[in-house]
Amino acid sequence: MPDTVPPVMDADAYRREALDAVSRAATPAELDDARVRFLGRKSDLKLALRDVRDRETGMALNAVRAVIEAALERRERELAAAAPDDTGFDPTLPGEPIPRGTLHLLTQLRRRIEDIFVGMGYEVYDGREVETVWHNFDALNQPEAHPSRDPQDTFYVDGQTLLRTHTSPSQIRAMLAKEPPVYLVSLGRCYRRDALDATHTPVFHQVEALAVDRHITLADLRGTMQEFASAIFGGHREVRMRTSYFPFTEPSVEFDMTCYLCDGHGCPVCKHSGWIEMGGAGEVDPAVFDAVGYDPEEWQGFAWGLGIDRIAFNRHGLPDLRLFWENDIRFLEQF
Ligand code: DAH
Repeated sequence: MPDTVPPVMDADAYRREALDAVSRAATPAELDDARVRFLGRKSDLKLALRDVRDRETGMALNAVRAVIEAALERRERELAAAAPDDTGFDPTLPGEPIPRGTLHLLTQLRRRIEDIFVGMGYEVYDGREVETVWHNFDALNQPEAHPSRDPQDTFYVDGQTLLRTHTSPSQIRAMLAKEPPVYLVSLGRCYRRDALDATHTPVFHQVEALAVDRHITLADLRGTMQEFASAIFGGHREVRMRTSYFPFTEPSVEFDMTCYLCDGHGCPVCKHSGWIEMGGAGEVDPAVFDAVGYDPEEWQGFAWGLGIDRIAFNRHGLPDLRLFWENDIRFLEQF
């Protein structure tokens, strides 16, 4: 009897070959083949184990078997995880892109406007869309017989309640709720009975700004407008004021800014005038201060309001306001 049993097989080479076959198995069937070939009853390993005479060789061969078994198990789990399940779902296929929307152009603009005002130290104030006649008209010094009160122009809920026709009633609510000084901006939907066409929608958006403090003058109003116009349209925008009339301001103005496209030289966007209309403004009328209980001798203020839809309309050269409401992805995804 020889003292050492000749090696029945090259265990290292066998292990390497087996692990290689296991890792290359791409389907459960291929993995089964590898199992039969390297661990099956007639595999070299099993035959060698049967012939083992010494403990050392036995331990070495059993270690190889354990390694191959572990590799088979691991690969089996990998293949199972990757395999399509009963529902036909195959997790190895690349995922379908999840369509991601953007905020509506008007929402983006609303947030931008709020940011600009917050940057100037203003507070964002949320008003109400369903308002009382008193907040929407009376407290704003709107004469009883003013045509805008007409049910032809205004959506009434009942005799005392309506859908606000502008954001100005937010001024009233805020001043009733706070002591001066007040710096606020209020944005939101407004409603008027306009027939729907390319330049009118019965629902539209306004931004209202109000500053109440001591010694506020029209120069402050002008500076704020200029700051705002430059921030929203970019570059340096000049503004100009034209006298106007609103019941809640005295004096009242309308303001324009130099055209953002031609910088005031004249182009189709500004109809060759160099100026673009922005909105209405003025010094808060003492009658409004009376309505909210502020002393007009002590406090002054300016207010202004303008249409957000029109800003977006101008800024992007849009052909039709109805685009804001149609929710056509092809339009919305451009912004
Ligand atoms: N509320 C006015 C409108 O709807 C806009 C406006 C004008 C607001 C002058 C103001 C202002 O605060 O001072 O047309």
